[in-house]
Amino acid sequence: MCGIFGCILKDEAAAPVIHAALKRLEYRGYDSVGEATIDDGKLYVKKDQGKIDEVHMVRNLDDLPGSLGVGHTRWATHGAPLEVNAHPHLDCSGQIAVVHNGIIENFAELRLELENHGHVFKSKTDTEIIPHLIEEILKNNSSFSLAEAVLEAVKKLQGSYSIAVISSKEPDKIVCARNESPLVVGVNDEAVYFASDIPAFLPLTNKALMVDDGELVTLSLGHVEIRKIADSQLVVREPKIIEWTPEMAIKQGYPHFMIKEIHEQPDCLRNTLRVQEHYADLMSTFLDRARDVYLVACGTSYHACLASSYMFSKLAFLPSYPIIASEFVEQCGKSVNIDSTILAVSQSGETADTLASVNSARQRAATILGLTNTIGSTLTRVSRVYIGQQSGPEIGVAATKTFTSQLSVMAQLALRLAKKRGKVSQDEMDFLAEKLKKIPDTVEEIIQKQEQKIKMIAKKYKDSKTFFFLGRGISTATAYEGRLKLMEIAYVPAIAFPAGESKHGPISLIEPGFPVVFICPKDETHKTLIGNIMEMKARGASIIAVIEEDDEEIKKLVDDYIEVPNGIPEVLSPVPFVVPLQLLAYYMAIERGYNPDKPRNLAKSVTVK
Ligand code: F6R
Repeated sequence: MCGIFGCILKDEAAAPVIHAALKRLEYRGYDSVGEATIDDGKLYVKKDQGKIDEVHMVRNLDDLPGSLGVGHTRWATHGAPLEVNAHPHLDCSGQIAVVHNGIIENFAELRLELENHGHVFKSKTDTEIIPHLIEEILKNNSSFSLAEAVLEAVKKLQGSYSIAVISSKEPDKIVCARNESPLVVGVNDEAVYFASDIPAFLPLTNKALMVDDGELVTLSLGHVEIRKIADSQLVVREPKIIEWTPEMAIKQGYPHFMIKEIHEQPDCLRNTLRVQEHYADLMSTFLDRARDVYLVACGTSYHACLASSYMFSKLAFLPSYPIIASEFVEQCGKSVNIDSTILAVSQSGETADTLASVNSARQRAATILGLTNTIGSTLTRVSRVYIGQQSGPEIGVAATKTFTSQLSVMAQLALRLAKKRGKVSQDEMDFLAEKLKKIPDTVEEIIQKQEQKIKMIAKKYKDSKTFFFLGRGISTATAYEGRLKLMEIAYVPAIAFPAGESKHGPISLIEPGFPVVFICPKDETHKTLIGNIMEMKARGASIIAVIEEDDEEIKKLVDDYIEVPNGIPEVLSPVPFVVPLQLLAYYMAIERGYNPDKPRNLAKSVTVK
């Protein structure tokens, strides 16, 4: 996730306005920043790695000349957060500048093609192919306007993008296009703006035009032209008045970042399906060769590791050991050696215990692999291979969207490994790959259909003193994560166990009315799990079950149920099944009068440069 913004102003200088707007978009990314403006037929650019304030201190982002320009605040996906990879990116002639939010999947092929035509690339980004592609199209079609060239260029792009393009040859226009990444236009009598999100221009105008997927927008002072990319047809759209306060706008109308991020999961999961093939392949090769695989992490990321150990075993027949990072050195330190592989999972890439485990394993010559949301973090620097999960910054302290994205990446890795090892038939692979692609829609459906019901369940159980979470098989990880979310933001003491273990002690806690949450995918554990539900019911527990829609058997047994769509394969089930538990924790916190964005005694790890 990155933030883009640009403007055409009547009399004012654009650069300070872009700078201020990028500050308002910093929640979308903050590892590098850049601006480009046009003045007197010349293109000017400033960009660097670092937070906006840091870059401004050194380079002064406000003194670029001209009243038209674009800006970008980056959260790296392709290429480390370095000056050369910061946006805007330029063509060979230095006349065209592009800012981009999204992921171009076919950039490697396009880059090769363009290099064969003599284009020279400076960065490792997917974005840089766009200005070169536009340059190439203009070279071959001398009568084309910038808008026509951008239209042709975006037809060649696969993946997600919102882009903005300026050219010193058409110094009064900005051309934007959108596919699966957000883009809005703001207008008033004095100016026209575009941005990834409304908060960027809300202090300047409250009149906004939403741009849809598959649309190309040409901005000039006093004029906004929208066309369909597919057939160039003109689209007529009136601006809407936005009634949000700036505070509401940053959370896009949601009361808290946590609920905003829960709702962002379908889009994040779509992004996560675009992890870079090359790195995923490389990582699965390392996993394939390893003698021991340790999956090391803390908190929510550890739960992703736990779920992944089931995925690796069930799909690729790879045994792996999920280990809590703070225990790793004590528990496994001496067994690690040159044949060991550590896959460290950390949203921030900076969690001290995870890094300590990695350091200890490095000293024993183990191979370090990393999965993180923060490119440029310490974990990316110490890993032999790392994958960026591409969830965008997570502002809520409680991990939600980064957890489901971690699960999706791990499932993709397990599938690759299974293919490499020939452990899963092609039909089964195709079936799972297809289901994985549908997971974002499944999550969207769950949020849409179940949120109100979960709110009511939270109201009903808000005064419960303790909760129990139970699951079997891979759903044990889901149960652990549901418990952690409820404890950390709603302050309800909760316990979680593999359901089979509950009778070896924990069941003694049960008394009438004790809430027990069961995670019940219809997998191989379903039948046994029903036995566990009966045991709890017989002792008077109040059962809340997360079930598949057609699970009539469990519906009859339980007090409350939350439904997810049918037919989710076992190895993918933690993604949809955890979403109701995130919502339950969120609404329990609200019912109990707590701010879910500010859990006491907790803070997020950040990269320290
Ligand atoms: C829980 C939560 C924490 C983190 C843990 C690891 O909601 O956010 O448990 O999962 O602190 O953080 P990372 O993944 O950054 O290493």
